[in-house]
Amino acid sequence: MSLIGRPVSLSVDDAPAPKPPRTVRTMLVLGTRPEAIKLAPVVRAMAASALFQPVVVTTGQHREMLQQMLGLLGVGVKTDLAVMRDRQRLSELTARLVDGLGTVIRAERPDLVVVQGDTTTALCGALAAFYERTPVAHVEAGLRTGVLDNPFPEELNRRMIGRVARWHFAPTERSAAQLRAEGVPPEQVLTTGNTVIDNLLWVLAEGAGHSAFRTAHRKVLLTLHRRENQGARMRAMGAALRRLADRGDVEVVLPLHRSPAVREALLPELDGHSGVRVVDPLDYLDFAATLADCDLVLTDSGGIQEEAPSLGKPALVLRTTTERPEAVDAGAARLVGTDPDAILAAAGRLLDDPEEYARMAGAGNPFGDGRAADRIMARLTEDFEREEAVNTARRDAPGSYDPVA
Ligand code: UD1
Ligand code: UDP
Repeated sequence: MSLIGRPVSLSVDDAPAPKPPRTVRTMLVLGTRPEAIKLAPVVRAMAASALFQPVVVTTGQHREMLQQMLGLLGVGVKTDLAVMRDRQRLSELTARLVDGLGTVIRAERPDLVVVQGDTTTALCGALAAFYERTPVAHVEAGLRTGVLDNPFPEELNRRMIGRVARWHFAPTERSAAQLRAEGVPPEQVLTTGNTVIDNLLWVLAEGAGHSAFRTAHRKVLLTLHRRENQGARMRAMGAALRRLADRGDVEVVLPLHRSPAVREALLPELDGHSGVRVVDPLDYLDFAATLADCDLVLTDSGGIQEEAPSLGKPALVLRTTTERPEAVDAGAARLVGTDPDAILAAAGRLLDDPEEYARMAGAGNPFGDGRAADRIMARLTEDFEREEAVNTARRDAPGSYDPVA
């Protein structure tokens, strides 16, 4: 308002309005069970910070398995795109997600979009943010198997997110080095540890979960879901695990993924066996208690490969590649492949050889100390408190957005 011709003393009405404290509107995009688990520590930290205003958007790529994790976030979901279809194909899922997320980003106008890992949701979140000229932070960046279609399609997804992201939060030194080797400027890469450890330690401290094991037998926790194993290979793996249960001295607990393809492959082999307990996906408190209670983990899961060593549980990875070789190198996990006889032999050896078991159980956890979200927050805070970071982050400024410039 012009003051020309008016008395010089300012009334309260004329005084410039106090500047509102600036907040960084941060859209966290998640759609599957592991994304909710691994972004929960970041969402909780943002909700407690004065600078960041978290806006949680779920794609609903998963339905029940995502819903049962949302309590970990500590804040409500602003928008749910509810895209899940039975037996969804990657192409249709991707098309729906890029379109839906673009619309949400245009409506919410976030200063920053955060994605996690390598799912279709994460890829589409990063892509839609790029199209809306909004900077992207990638949590769990730099994991690679080096084989473009294994795991399928996650290896491609994470490489593409790596081209788009402005902040690359790498869980280990190895993943950070990988990103630098691919040409990402070192100042955009930060080694943080994996947020899954933050969440696991936080939940175990709550201590409210119940183990799914019921007997005094040796306790084997089994999960399988990877797309590249579905069909005949997964059926053969199921048959091998049935032979493991035939030993009579083990109790296998299988929290079964809701994917129809996984159920069709595993249920005929394992359901009804007296040594196998097939249960619905466990909520995180119960899963953490079950993991803490088990003797041995057999899995093709990414997150469980990270969690098992932090609780001293030997993990046999039922895959031909892993993007988490740190656990294998540390001796906490073994990549046993998908061959039924190899799986049976490796599991038998661990159950029957106390020295081998003790070596793996004592190998330690290379995935972090439970403070990954603190490090992510510290870096984002530092960057967003610098005005130039905000300016270069701003949309609609052609030429200002080049994550690898
Ligand atoms: C997805 C991720 C994978 C991640 C996994 C975690 C991609 C390409 N893959 O794989 O990286 O490891 O999530 O579990 O993003 N379904 C339900 N209810 C649910 C969840 C899924 O019925 O709560 C069904 C869906 O209808 C779908 C099938 O399970 O047909 C598979 O789900 P989808 O998200 O496509 O792939 P995942 O194998 O779960
Ligand atoms: N998990 C869970 N309940 C279950 C099985 C797994 O809470 O019944 C958790 C597990 O602790 C881990 C995450 O889900 O943090 C792993 O999810 P999943 O294996 O589906 O996906 P991935 O990690 O392979 O992407």
